[in-house]
Amino acid sequence: MIQTVEALSPHVGLTLDGQRVMILDQSQLPNREIYLELNGLEEMCEAIVALRVRGAPAIGIFAGYGVYVLARQLPQQETVERNLIALCEQAGKLAAARPTAVNLSWAVARMLDCGRAASGQGWEAVLSALREECLAIHRQDIAMCRSIAEYGLSLVKDGDRVLTHCNAGPLATSRYGTALGPILLGQEKGIRLKVFADETRPLLQGARLTSYELHRAGVDVTLICDNMASMVMKNGWVQACFVGCDRVAANGDAANKIGTSGVAILAKHYGIPFYVLGPTSTIDLNCPTGNDIPIEERDPEEIRTMWYREPMAPAGVKCFNPAFDVTDHSLIAGIVTEKGICRAPYTQSLAALFQ
Ligand code: MRU
Repeated sequence: MIQTVEALSPHVGLTLDGQRVMILDQSQLPNREIYLELNGLEEMCEAIVALRVRGAPAIGIFAGYGVYVLARQLPQQETVERNLIALCEQAGKLAAARPTAVNLSWAVARMLDCGRAASGQGWEAVLSALREECLAIHRQDIAMCRSIAEYGLSLVKDGDRVLTHCNAGPLATSRYGTALGPILLGQEKGIRLKVFADETRPLLQGARLTSYELHRAGVDVTLICDNMASMVMKNGWVQACFVGCDRVAANGDAANKIGTSGVAILAKHYGIPFYVLGPTSTIDLNCPTGNDIPIEERDPEEIRTMWYREPMAPAGVKCFNPAFDVTDHSLIAGIVTEKGICRAPYTQSLAALFQ
């Protein structure tokens, strides 16, 4: 483990000297706990693309630290204006590393706004404002997750079984997580929830990360393949679905890991409430509907060859590998934020959060 400023989370932070961003490499979990220290733009972008750091809020926190670390490397003797232009360019590349999770561009924009606001007081003042801002983004995410966990917990009762997809736990955020927040908070309070975790093809965040986090926390978690969700729902074993989100449009359509919308359709069929849990930093009122959310497409090799001793598909076969899908707002029973639980009609309830 690498020591970080304030030690806010064990898997992401700013190194004590303020010169690097520390992450636990999530692409190596659950088999290897490898910590990385990054300070170059290219390695930061690579870490996001390769999912060494992943999960919408965690990417935002990482980007906040990244912008600060990059700013510190700009020449002290240069004018503030020139340094801000250079920082803007680098930060733009960081923000473009993944398109779907809005927290990434949100955190970068917040850091740049902060830098501009302090620019009248010289470069040292800009750096100290940026340092405070990236820590604030991280601290605020902890508070938001805690509040989401409380609201989410009010939707279930002791002994309920919850189905989740992908990983929206502490690793994907700062602490507690969003979709896993109520489960982990319940565990602390003696409210025992049982979990079905979809393995989440193709990158297995459910198997590698969700079952890892919950199992370590002593939660009763059962790992299932994605195509088993219908059966456990039909058997009456699931009382609620909790999933995270990467971007929520103004009308409540919610982008999350590929396969989430299928879970929502099944839940509707079996009469199980399907909840999306996420901080307000994941709500993008500039996207009117889910059709406006950019969907990341990833390397076909993730389907053809990854995870197996031998390729499980013929070399060169055509693959379609979208990383996310959009769940229609009509399938969502509630969107749980740190400010409360939004219900349909979402156009009104989401807008009210920002008033
Ligand atoms: O591709 P990933 O692993 O970054 O996808 C993550 C998800 O889809 C999460 O559910 C989402 O980011 C919410 S994390 C609180």
